[in-house]
Amino acid sequence: MSSVNIIVGSQMGSAEYVAEQLSDELNNQGIDTQLHDQPVFSDIDQHNTIWLICTSTYGAGDYPENLINFVDDLAQTDDLSNLKYSVIALGDTSYDTYNLAGRNIDALLTDKKAIRVAERLELNITDEALPEDTALAWLDSWIAKTGLK
Ligand SMILES: Cc1cc2nc3c(=O)[nH]c(=O)nc-3n(C[C@H](O)[C@H](O)[C@H](O)COP(=O)(O)O)c2cc1C
Repeated sequence: MSSVNIIVGSQMGSAEYVAEQLSDELNNQGIDTQLHDQPVFSDIDQHNTIWLICTSTYGAGDYPENLINFVDDLAQTDDLSNLKYSVIALGDTSYDTYNLAGRNIDALLTDKKAIRVAERLELNITDEALPEDTALAWLDSWIAKTGLK
């Protein structure tokens, strides 16, 4: 496994910042990353890589605008059984639709037979901890599950 494609769904920048911090730390550990802040489904390599999708939720459980076309293309794909992936969901527990975008894209990828390499990380922005700190603290355990090192 040679690289991580980090796919960002973000409207106000929080999920993007988390993704950037994780990308920097993965690079520090000798793992290549490609960060996609305007992801185009057909442009992203699916082989010898892991997709790490880092997305917030908007509206009533909707995807951030920059992820909508990506998800539409994903939904039209038949089989992703060669794809390894993991999801980080960023949201606010005061919404009934807490982290629904992250949960839905996780379910969609599973439906397409993609391989979830680790359980979804759910970040609540109303927690005391900064989401990027929680994500960085989680990263080593994630790397261990992926076999990247
Ligand atoms: C208009 C609006 C709608 C939101 N809807 C949801 C929601 O349905 N579920 C949720 O978990 N969080 C919701 N949030 C919270 C955002 O997901 C949260 O603030 C997140 O950190 C934003 O990340 P971003 O800066 O990367 O876009 C909403 C925020 C706004 C401003």
